[in-house]
Amino acid sequence: MPQIPEKIHELTVGQLSSRSGAAVSALHFYEAKGLISSRRTSGNQRRYGRDALRRVAFVRAAQRVGIPLATIRDALAELPEERTPTREDWARLSENWRAELDARILQLGRLRDHLTDCIGCGCLSLETCVLSNPDDVFGERASGSRLLVEKKK
Ligand code: FES
Repeated sequence: MPQIPEKIHELTVGQLSSRSGAAVSALHFYEAKGLISSRRTSGNQRRYGRDALRRVAFVRAAQRVGIPLATIRDALAELPEERTPTREDWARLSENWRAELDARILQLGRLRDHLTDCIGCGCLSLETCVLSNPDDVFGERASGSRLLVEKKK
């Protein structure tokens, strides 16, 4: 990863990309989603403060563990005066996200187990395939032929 001299206080999108490892398109996306911000030069080019490096690292680390961008944005927005997340911020937020991650892993484990039943089947039956009809939504409304009646309406 290229180092950026300390005396440089603002980064171009290319510098931010090469230093953070995030694609330029990803940085534009992060900015559109309010995760990072830049100022525009007179030539309408983006310039990022050095703290954008840490914000991008924060976003990418959270994304790697599957935290949705909206949740990451909310976490960043809670920081006073939109400051850059500190080591303590990351420790606190990652602790909270751990429970969310555990729940997701449990859910994925269940889906994997159900998928095992589907491998080689292909029926996608609303009556018997758990992946096709999770939580038996149709079964709670009515049984069997009721589905056909609903479709005719
Ligand atoms: S595809 Fe047949 S049980 Fe899921």
